[in-house]
Amino acid sequence: MSNPIRIEKVNQTRIDHVNFDNLAFGNEFSDHMLICLYQNGKWGEVLIKPYGPISYLPAMSVLHYGQAVFEGMKAFRQVDGKVALFRGESHYERFNRSCKRVVIPEIPKDIFLGGLKKLIETDYEWVPKEKFKSLYIRPFVFATDEYLGVRASKTYAFVIITSPVGNYYKEGINPVKLTTMPDYVRAVKGGVGDAKVPGNYAASLLPAQKALEQGFTQVLWLDATSQSNIEEVGTSNMFFVVNGNLVTPKLSGSILQGITRDSVIKLAKHKGFSVEEKTITVQDVFNWHKSGSLTEVFATGTAAVISPVGSIHHNGETIVLNEKEMGPISKMLYAHLTDIHRGEQPDPFGWCEKV
Ligand code: COI
Repeated sequence: MSNPIRIEKVNQTRIDHVNFDNLAFGNEFSDHMLICLYQNGKWGEVLIKPYGPISYLPAMSVLHYGQAVFEGMKAFRQVDGKVALFRGESHYERFNRSCKRVVIPEIPKDIFLGGLKKLIETDYEWVPKEKFKSLYIRPFVFATDEYLGVRASKTYAFVIITSPVGNYYKEGINPVKLTTMPDYVRAVKGGVGDAKVPGNYAASLLPAQKALEQGFTQVLWLDATSQSNIEEVGTSNMFFVVNGNLVTPKLSGSILQGITRDSVIKLAKHKGFSVEEKTITVQDVFNWHKSGSLTEVFATGTAAVISPVGSIHHNGETIVLNEKEMGPISKMLYAHLTDIHRGEQPDPFGWCEKV
């Protein structure tokens, strides 16, 4: 039996105060949000209500021990004027995999996807009309027990907020500068690096800040054990174009199983490229560059889509690639993927679901 969905609409929309021509990432929020509480061993009523404060007590366990999970998804305005949710099932499955890792009860599909579709319908006008813009969707769940002992909470809140967005980076789709940070690690095998939990992002902030101070855009994470294998960028997965084909770090257990990573692998194969998922050392990358076989590097993520990498710095050495613009293969994959988002190209994988 499906959980009931109740909708309380705003009296007055805020949409007229939003400048859709000048959207950055993540600072405008649509009129409504969804909330659903877990108590006494079950998820309750789904409530769609005006976006606004949620109040909790200071002893709420997520504030102390971080038991929480989030996702990042997108809905796109297509050329026919309708809205399509991109790879909803894949995000739903990843959300519950992350929940399992931090002992949060599974969210039923009718709440997560059924509720999300109702929320998008409610805020349909908030989905930007222009190409390359989208409605970013942030589902999250957190532990709400008022208790200071360390144990899995017995109560949770599941919330979805949405945000009309433009590019993730201020660079737009211009190349970003990466650096390794040998004094820090992001995740270890057996840890939570492959789960979308907030602590991974909190731990990345200090090294990211240092990277920024040194003139880089993001940290390129290496594996924690040998500090030689390339993992991910924290907000995205890495791809290298070597001799005209794609290579990407294999899923090692400590990197996130990116949905855009998977979309790019499938799309590139569909377009006739070979795509290899394997262990890639930072030395491999520098060697490929030296031999001339490395022609492009890019990062993939829901928020960032496909962002070209202009340079990589490691141990005092820097390699420079496509410093000023996206390389041709990245550009072609970006164009094809954004055309699928937009409904301008066939969707052979059934990724877009009309709402
Ligand atoms: C996403 O790409 O959606 C992410 O969740 C990465 C980041 C914005 C936290």
